[in-house]
Amino acid sequence: MEIIILPTGADVARAAADAIEEQVRSGPSVLGLATGSTPLGTYQELIERHRNYGLSFTNARAFLLDEYLGLPATHPQSYHSVIRKEFTDSVDLGSDAVHGLNGVAADPAAEALRYEASIEAAGGVDIQILGIGTDGHVGFNEPMSSLASRTRIKTLTRQTRKDNARFFENPADVPDHVLTQGLGTIRQARHLLLLAVGATKAQALAAAVEGPVAAVCPASALQLHPHVTVLVDSAAASKLAHRDYYQDTFGRKPQWQGL
Ligand code: F6R
Repeated sequence: MEIIILPTGADVARAAADAIEEQVRSGPSVLGLATGSTPLGTYQELIERHRNYGLSFTNARAFLLDEYLGLPATHPQSYHSVIRKEFTDSVDLGSDAVHGLNGVAADPAAEALRYEASIEAAGGVDIQILGIGTDGHVGFNEPMSSLASRTRIKTLTRQTRKDNARFFENPADVPDHVLTQGLGTIRQARHLLLLAVGATKAQALAAAVEGPVAAVCPASALQLHPHVTVLVDSAAASKLAHRDYYQDTFGRKPQWQGL
């Protein structure tokens, strides 16, 4: 894991956008997109680079990490709608190139299998953006998720429902269940970009990065991946025991090395 501590959330967004831009400019690309608040700055950066610096996504396809069960794609809080509104409708990534899970599939288990097969048919994800939940989830793999899990239904913890209530008119409207890529699925992406911004993420981030690999902190499963870049602002980094080491290493990183 490479842990890069940057002063602010805006710096995190720029660094994440740099990594995605490099991937997209290198040729046909499969992007893994997360929703939630954390990647919004990155999406804004990419939109601006599309509008002003010729960054085109016509050679890219995208797969979403997860979806609320019971919300149709047309629901404003479905992750289908959110990603279109926050990112893909503002760049040249056609809606047929953006893939998500069907939250109202008659057979969610079959939908999960279909989704796994469609990621595989696309050649796998080149670069996957991830946020982290305050309980250490990635995707919606809540604590005690199997570290080898594949796409499936999960039940959200009370904490996650509370954290996500801000997106809904009424806290009771937050769905109980979701479809999410599993930790095994996520770990098959070739490059993982874990973003964390703000002090509320500090504890979960420290457990994920410096704690043991354990299902109680699902994000710790990323320690088993050969290419993870962790981009964090100083508030999210505040509980990392080895902050100085990460900063020193990044400060002396050869420029040609990239992320
Ligand atoms: C969203 C997702 C979640 C979020 C996490 C953090 O697609 O998979 O894991 O990344 O809940 O959410 P925010 O960024 O809103 O704090």
